[in-house]
Order: sequence, then C-alpha cells, then structure tokens
Amino acid sequence: MIRYGNRTVGKPSILITGASGFLGYVLCSSLADDYAVTGTYRSNSPSCGSIETVQLDLEDDEDVFTEILSRLSPSRIIHAAALADADKCEENPELAWRVNVDGSRKLARAAGRIGIPMIYISTDLVYSVGTGPFDESRVNPAMVYSQTKRSGEMQVLSAHPDNIVLRCALMYGPDDGRRISFVRRMDWVIRSGGMLTLFTDQYRTPLWAQDVASAIPAITQRTVSGHIFNLGGPDRLTRYDFGLLAAEVFGWPEYRIRPVRIADLPHLAFRSHDCSMDSGLARRELGWEPTPVRRGLELLRKLWG
Ligand SMILES: NC(=O)c1ccc[n+]([C@@H]2O[C@H](COP(=O)([O-])OP(=O)(O)OC[C@H]3O[C@@H](n4cnc5c(N)ncnc54)[C@H](OP(=O)(O)O)[C@@H]3O)[C@@H](O)[C@H]2O)c1
Repeated sequence: MIRYGNRTVGKPSILITGASGFLGYVLCSSLADDYAVTGTYRSNSPSCGSIETVQLDLEDDEDVFTEILSRLSPSRIIHAAALADADKCEENPELAWRVNVDGSRKLARAAGRIGIPMIYISTDLVYSVGTGPFDESRVNPAMVYSQTKRSGEMQVLSAHPDNIVLRCALMYGPDDGRRISFVRRMDWVIRSGGMLTLFTDQYRTPLWAQDVASAIPAITQRTVSGHIFNLGGPDRLTRYDFGLLAAEVFGWPEYRIRPVRIADLPHLAFRSHDCSMDSGLARRELGWEPTPVRRGLELLRKLWG
C-alpha cells in the first residue's frame, strides 16, 4: 500500500459524516485500519487522528454536497451526522427537520446522482408503541427526533437502490472525552456525588458502539439483501437494570441509583416504554454478533483504567 499523507491507496475509501460525534469517533477509530477514511464535521474538529477531515454542514445547499462528493469520490458514505439530542429536537423541530431530513435528502440525492451508496445511521426510537423486541417492520416514531430520523431513512432509501439503513440502539462505548455516551455521563454523575434516576419501565437493547463498525465490512464487501437492519445488543433490559449492572462492573454504590417510572416525571417529553429490538436479520444477513452488555461494560472499565 502507498501512503499519501493520511490517505492510503489500496484501501476502499469511506466518507463518515459526523466524525466529530460520539459514534463518528468510534467508527473512524475502528475503521481507519481497513478503509481510507475521510470524516466530516460541522463545528468541532474530529479527534480521531488517522483520518482526513472536511467541513460539511447539512444545512448547506445540495451543490456543496455534490462538489465535496465529486472531489473525494468515496466508494461509500456512512451518514452518522444528525441533530441527535432528542430534547433539542423537541425544542427546535424546524432545525431538526432541516438537519435530519432535508440534510439527509440533499446528501443522498447528491450521492445517488454520482452513484455512491450510503449507509444511514438511524435509531431504535422509531419503535415506540407496543411490546418489543421489535423487528424492522413495526415502526411508529412518536417524537420529533424519531420522526425526523424515520423521514431521513425514507429519503436515503429512495435515492439509491444499494442504500442501507442501520437502526442503532442506545449506544455506549469508547469516547474522546468531548462527545460522550450515556455511560460516561452516568459515571460523571456518580463521581460528583450525584444520584442517577433511571426508568424501571423502559426496555432497551443497549449496543456496544464498536459493534456498529463490525457490521460495515459485510455491507461493503458483499451484496446484502435487505435494506433496513436493526442493530441492538443481545440483552433486553430496563434503564434501571442497566444501571445496576453498570454499578456492579464499575463499583458504583447501588443506593445512588434511584428507580423511577416514566409517569413519575411528567414534565419530560414523550418517552417510549419499549424500544428494544430484534436484530436477527442483521445476525443472519450480515453475520453480525453483538457484544453482551456485561462484556461491553467490562471492556469500557478496562479502557478507562
Ligand atoms: N448515541 C446514541 O445512543 C444513538 C443511538 C441511536 C442512533 N444514533 C444516531 O447515531 C448518529 C450519531 O449520534 P451521536 O450520538 O454520535 O451524536 P453526536 O455525538 O451528537 O454527534 C453528532 C454529529 O453530527 C454533526 N452535526 C450536527 N449537526 C450538523 C449539521 N447541521 N451539519 C453537519 N454535521 C452536523 C456533529 O458535528 P459537530 O460536532 O462538528 O457540530 C457531530 O459530528 C446519529 O445519526 C444518531 O441519530 C445515536
């Protein structure tokens, strides 16, 4: 292989949007050995060192996307950039639609015209009614955030026949200390002497974020049948049970974890009781094997030292 600056000729090239975000950092770090990665950011320079970076705002005109994609000519795009804070989306729905829907449409159309396939990162929050684990068919987005993500999925799927949606569960994993996962936030609360208030009636299938990266080679290396895949961890548990498990692994005092029901906090925006996912399709089609929660937390404890 020949290296030109950070770019290695001979590896497939991949453009990751949102490289300065939590998932972007994990994807860039995990994929940089096997792909020539370029990462996009809007306002914060990505901290994963071994990649090229380019500034891109999803509110830009479509021509800007066309120019960037023509110049970089990646063999595939992983579109992870989004307004990903559900509460901020509720507060500013216009911005959420501009970034998550219009931005995804413009990027997907520009990519589709040049013939670059895309992988769109979506969310488990598109499932909100009934009892899980949900397969890919039972979508019912009930919040501004999940509605914009579902709409983004449809924009992307209609732009190119090879486009794929990965619906990711609530994620935890390594971070760069700037954009962090909910587990790091929990750790900070405990370390500063605070209490964690966790739902006993919201079921999730928490996902070790590096498992998203491990789904990518199967998609880039062979023809995959299916366009939408759930990527959820193998354990279905409540937020509270997750907290107790994390307390066991990290040595947090259990009394600092307070169980609450969603109905106990009526001031919050809508929260689903169940977004747990059945990821059998990804296991079968992508040969994908997610990490059990206890193992993921132990990996994190090792990384944190
Ligand atoms: N975290 C989770 O548990 C989770 C679960 C399911 C799905 N997801 C999905 O995974 C993806 C990544 O989430 P995350 O948690 O990593 O989010 P994050 O840490 O908040 O990062 C968001 C990324 O999007 C970029 N971005 C925001 N607005 C933008 C705009 N107008 N134009 C261009 N880039 C923009 C940010 O760039 P700057 O920082 O440079 O401004 C940042 O790189 C999202 O699509 C989210 O919906 C996340």
